[in-house]
Amino acid sequence: MGLWTDQASEAQKPSEASLWKPQLNGAESNMACQDGLLSPESHPTIRRLSSATASFDDLHLGPSVVVPPKHMQEPSDAHETAAALEIAKHRMSVAGVTEGTSTPTTPPETTTTDSYAFAFDIDGVLIRGGKPIPEAIEAMKVLNGQNKYGIKVPYIFLTNGGGKTEQERCVQLSRQMELEISPGQFICGHTPMKEMAEKYKTVLVVGGEGEKCRDVAEGYGFKDVVTPGDIMKDNERTTPFRKLTDQESQHSRKRNFAQVEIEAIFVFADSRHWGDDQQIIIDLLTSKNGRLGTRSEKYDEGPPIYFSHNDIIWSAEHEHTRLGMGALRTSLEAIYEGITGKKLISTAFGKPQLGTFQFATRLLQQWRKDTHGINKPPETVYFVGDTPDSDIRGTNEYNESDLSENDWYSILVRTGVFQEGTKPRFTPRATVDTVLDAVKHGIKREMDRAIKKKIMAQSAVDGEAVIEEHPATEAALDRE
Ligand code: G3P
Ligand code: MG
Repeated sequence: MGLWTDQASEAQKPSEASLWKPQLNGAESNMACQDGLLSPESHPTIRRLSSATASFDDLHLGPSVVVPPKHMQEPSDAHETAAALEIAKHRMSVAGVTEGTSTPTTPPETTTTDSYAFAFDIDGVLIRGGKPIPEAIEAMKVLNGQNKYGIKVPYIFLTNGGGKTEQERCVQLSRQMELEISPGQFICGHTPMKEMAEKYKTVLVVGGEGEKCRDVAEGYGFKDVVTPGDIMKDNERTTPFRKLTDQESQHSRKRNFAQVEIEAIFVFADSRHWGDDQQIIIDLLTSKNGRLGTRSEKYDEGPPIYFSHNDIIWSAEHEHTRLGMGALRTSLEAIYEGITGKKLISTAFGKPQLGTFQFATRLLQQWRKDTHGINKPPETVYFVGDTPDSDIRGTNEYNESDLSENDWYSILVRTGVFQEGTKPRFTPRATVDTVLDAVKHGIKREMDRAIKKKIMAQSAVDGEAVIEEHPATEAALDRE
């Protein structure tokens, strides 16, 4: 599997090296030191924003950590890691995601381990139906130092979820989990779509609540964003069975689509009106150069289509999994083939695409460089997910690929898509009940490895035979 491979022609793939440049407006580097700001001399200023009041605009002013209101006066244990990862992502964005471009800063006094890290899927692992999975809150506490070893472990979030920017998702998760989180810890499925903003002028953006994804796309730098609502407003015969409500009509933009060429289609988030959205997408895919009302004779002149991920199912509030964006894609492929007799070529981002995992590796490498002065990624990254086809597949395939410089260790939980009694199509290195068990599993494994290394080193000094196993590692560690 390549970086962004799903049925995409070579020409359609985004250039991998410049994919991930979170938009920062540059104001942060000049930002004066104010109350509520943490500003170590060698770091860009990190702003502390309350999750109760942080607005979209606040978050676009520069690097920030979103803090539950009760932590505003006193940073929680999570602050150090959140701030350090925000700095790391900021450096990557400024440096254009290249290696060796930033000067390592003086390592802070810290108990944060630099040899391993965790990466979490969100839906079905930390959150279900908008509410935190109870063990998730405890798991974060353990990572933030509330464990018997007294160590903190860095972590990031890798979600396929969409319809919001990383900044907004950060505020939402901070509220849900009552945790300090920075946008720098977030990687969303649609993040690489930013790269496409320069490539296309007029684009159709599909999915999400109301017209929200238009804002996200414009925030990413897309110059001319059309939504299905705009098209329905211009020609209400487009969708025979649904008319826009007054509110939808108010938020849609009136224009004459006979004059407009839509150059690409982006499905940013789950569609709220499958039938209507599919009708509009099919109209464009079968058009001449994305001009509505036209038909291509050979069906080879339509615009390309991109999906922010390909999850056929996902874990929401219902006891059984719900249909996701991958299901929309699959049905669109069938409709397109039924009409044209041709296979639909499309591109999906997000997990399990290798580029997602590669970016996460770079982020953790930058974090390690900033905080520990080491220019290598952590030795092991524990990825905790609930969906074998995206989380476990992506982790395993990235780990086995030439791209991976470290060990990506997949852990499957039973709180989401995966159900006990079924056989996952992609086999995890460990399967546990909850994210808390996953965290304990990873930390225990690391401690065992550290003890084993220590004993082997000691054995070498003493001239003894190499010890294969040391069963009492935890007890040994407790005595230290
Ligand atoms: O729509 C979001 C869903 O498909 C998956 O989200 O956090 O499990 O990657 P997540
Ligand atoms: Mg999930």
